Amino acid sequence: MPDASPPASDGRASSDLSGEHGETLALDRAVPTSLDNIRAPVEADLDAFRSYFREAMRSDHMLLDKITQYVLWQKGKRIRPILVLLSAQACGGTAADTTHRAAALVELLHTATLVHDDVVDDAEERRGAFSINALWKNKIAVLLGDFLLSRGLLLSLDHNDYSILHTLSNAVRRMSEGELLQIEKARLLDIDEETYFRIISDKTASLISACTKSGAVSVTDDEALVERMDQFGETLGLAFQIRDDLFDFSVEDAGKPIGIDLQEKKMTLPLIVSLREAGRRDQKRILKIVDQDEKDRDDLRTIAAFVEEHGGIAHARRKMESLAAEARSLLSGLPPSEARASLVGLTRFAIQRSR
Ligand code: IPE
Ligand code: IPE
Ligand code: MG
Ligand code: MG
Repeated sequence: MPDASPPASDGRASSDLSGEHGETLALDRAVPTSLDNIRAPVEADLDAFRSYFREAMRSDHMLLDKITQYVLWQKGKRIRPILVLLSAQACGGTAADTTHRAAALVELLHTATLVHDDVVDDAEERRGAFSINALWKNKIAVLLGDFLLSRGLLLSLDHNDYSILHTLSNAVRRMSEGELLQIEKARLLDIDEETYFRIISDKTASLISACTKSGAVSVTDDEALVERMDQFGETLGLAFQIRDDLFDFSVEDAGKPIGIDLQEKKMTLPLIVSLREAGRRDQKRILKIVDQDEKDRDDLRTIAAFVEEHGGIAHARRKMESLAAEARSLLSGLPPSEARASLVGLTRFAIQRSR
């Protein structure tokens, strides 16, 4: 598993971050930095998650079964189920069957939206391999996404997990709205920073906050605690998506296409703030390139150089880091535990990850 965090021989580093009451999270046991160590406290719960997830993916339909096998082989990072399980544990609870099903539900919904997202974005690569639409065409990708979504809904309904289903359905609604607003802004090229944050809150942070919230809800009735976990997920989710948007400007391989946002006229934070800083002539010149239906390597390089020059990358990094710090400070309201330390670790992983 690639991990861009600073090397620590055992994958653990101590935290130096202050909590909101001056409490220092250094009081935590060592904060894990690699995903392997982050998920250690919930390893047994992940087994239960996996069996629900696999079972929900199963189908007697031959073609469908072949494709879901491929999806299982693709292997995502499983950040969302890990968040559900860690959130439950950090809230003082022992994960129940409901928690495991919530973890499976979020990963099913996430997988469905990624399969659809690659159709929407015309992306041929996902998780370092061909996307479903690249291998089986758009029609099948759309239907597979629907299948996964329905399996998630049924998993919850079959067990009367209504509260979690309500939280998660709301997130799916917001994800669709966020995606549509993003398409609208790509047509008009008039996105500002505020709209950017609304888009990423809807399309990404909504699901991540649904993870932390439903993990908490599955083990506690403490409303303030649930609200805190919701807020934690929202803030972490924003940082997570800014990191994702930075991939588009990098030269490293993140297992998905680079430059595709620009290709699709999707303007993200680095470009938005750079355009705001630039003079009118530069703005016009860059927007003209963004608006081209086809962009060659030189076009993409021109935009990347413009963004670097106008401090867009540095600005986005600072914003991402301050959101991650904000997320960490929300955790100081929880009792110290191994799970809390892992959540602190995730706030770092989210912004340092290389895929
Ligand atoms: C990708 O999410 C979609 C975004 C919200 C940026 P992940 O980076 O968690 O994707 P996988 O599941 O690990 O592939
Ligand atoms: C991620 O959106 C999918 C959703 C949040 C629904 P992006 O299009 O920005 O993410 P990647 O880069 O393809 O994973
Ligand atoms: Mg997209
Ligand atoms: Mg995409």
